[in-house]
Order: sequence, then C-alpha cells, then structure tokens
Amino acid sequence: EVAGPREDAMKPSLEDPAASAGGPWEECFELAVQLALRAGQIIRKALSEEKQVSTKTSAADLVTETDQLVEDLIISEMQKRFPSHRFIAEEAAAAGAKCVLTPSPTWIIDPIDGTCNFVHRFPTVAVSIGFAVNQELEFGVIYHCTEERLYTGRRGRGAFCNGQRLQVSGETDLSKALVLTEIGPKRDPATLKLFLSNMERLLHAKAHGVRVIGSSTLALCLLASGAADAYYQFGLHCWDLAAATVIIREAGGIVMDTSGGPLDLMSCRVVAAGTREMATLIAQALQTINYGRDDEK
Ligand code: IPD
Repeated sequence: EVAGPREDAMKPSLEDPAASAGGPWEECFELAVQLALRAGQIIRKALSEEKQVSTKTSAADLVTETDQLVEDLIISEMQKRFPSHRFIAEEAAAAGAKCVLTPSPTWIIDPIDGTCNFVHRFPTVAVSIGFAVNQELEFGVIYHCTEERLYTGRRGRGAFCNGQRLQVSGETDLSKALVLTEIGPKRDPATLKLFLSNMERLLHAKAHGVRVIGSSTLALCLLASGAADAYYQFGLHCWDLAAATVIIREAGGIVMDTSGGPLDLMSCRVVAAGTREMATLIAQALQTINYGRDDEK
C-alpha cells in the first residue's frame, strides 16, 4: 500500500530536473498517464455507440453513462494505490461532493472533457487529470482520445505532447492573435449577451479570429502548443483547468484570473496566453460573467 511518494523518490531535487529521472510524484504521474490512456480507449469505443444522455445544471450541460464509468474507473484505481489521497472530480461534484483543495495530495479529474462533443460524435474529446500537493499543481495529464495525443506537464520539468516539447506563442499584439474560448453551460439571455459582447470586443480589437472547439482542456492544450495565442472563459471548472494550467505554464505561458490577478483555480474563470502582455490585453477587454465558485457549491 502506497500512501504518498516513495522514500527513495523524495531525494532528487525538482530544481534540477536533469539530476532526477523520477521526482517525488513520479509514481502518481505514471499512474495518471496509464489511466488516461485506458480511459481514452473506453471513450474512443463509446464515441460511435448509442448513449444515455442526461442534463445537469442546464440543457447544455450534458453527462452520459461513460462519464460516470470512466470517473469511477480512474478514482477506484487511484484509491487502490494511494488510499490517503483526495479527489475532486466532475461527476462526484455534480452528485454533491464538495470541491475543496486542501494541502493533501489531491487528484482533480474530468473524465470526459467535451461531453457535448462526445454526445454528438464530434471527435474533440479528452480525459484530464491534474494533481496538486500543498495546494500547488504538480502535474497535468490530458489525453486527446480520438487523435491519441497525450499532453503532459510537470512542474519544473517542461510540457510535452507525445514526447515533443511544447512551447507557447510569443505574440503580444492582440490584432495579430488567434483567440480561443468556450461558451460555458449557462444559456440565459443576460449571460449569452455578455458572452457575445466579449467576443465582439476582441473582434473589434481586430483579433485574427475567435474559436470555440467544445473542450476547454483541449483548447488550453492548443494554446500550450503555440497553435493559438490566448484563451479565456467564464464558467469552466477546476477540473477543466487544473491539468492544463501546469501544461501551459511549463510551455512558457501565463494562466491568470480575468481580473488580471493571480489564478484562482476555484473561481470558474480564466485568461491564459503565451505572453503576459497578451493575457493582460484580453483581461482588460472582458466583462465578467459570474458563475460563482466551485468551492462554494
Ligand atoms: C465543458 C467543456 C466545454 C466548456 C465547459 C466545460 P465537460 O466540460 O469543456 O467546452 O464550455 O465550461 O465545463 O462538461 O464537457 O466536461
């Protein structure tokens, strides 16, 4: 039974990544990769099959039996290896579990990010597993199930996609930017008006384009890859953001609050970009859409 990092794995220092083949949370990281790949296989197979679809907070907030099955599989396997660890996971939260990030080692899991895509067989769907210790994100693993792309980021040790190092774009000029966003689950007229007007503001600032792909985590991975210059969203959750935050930071990017202040994982809002200049320009352009906090639901 393993309740934390192995003794011997505690020794190498994270400050010198080259000095360590492993690192203190190596065993956890390896398990996250294994489970993301295993979950990805299940999701890939289920994508083309009939699904039982239910709604959660709104008619656009969907869940299927596969979301639950994959979440149960990931958590039960992690609990077997790390019984003292804590979990924050999308479907558990939907069932009423509290989302509180304590100093204990905590897994932050989205079993299917892009459930609406999954329901429609739109092949932009991911598994997202983040891991935090002492309220600090240590690593993130995101698996793009249909393209079989594995994105990983470990604090102090870089970000990779299928073994290739990721690097964000260096763009600082909003009028040359490709910006990504997601709509979020609320569809009442006031929220939609704010959502559209935020998009309009960026287009008035002459951004090259604004894209919505239906998966926050994969949009954030595209940003980490340098395929887009910025991302913003109101209404995403800590399980959409945890793993991707490490990946973006390790690819050299900025992840912050829409106020321009430091990121608050529980605040249901984010701006991310390749450069601080770009993130600040986006933050200044946005009007806030209030989604409350994950840790107050
Ligand atoms: C959602 C997707 C969607 C975004 C939502 C997320 P889910 O995650 O990433 O694109 O707009 O805010 O919660 O429900 O598919 O895991």
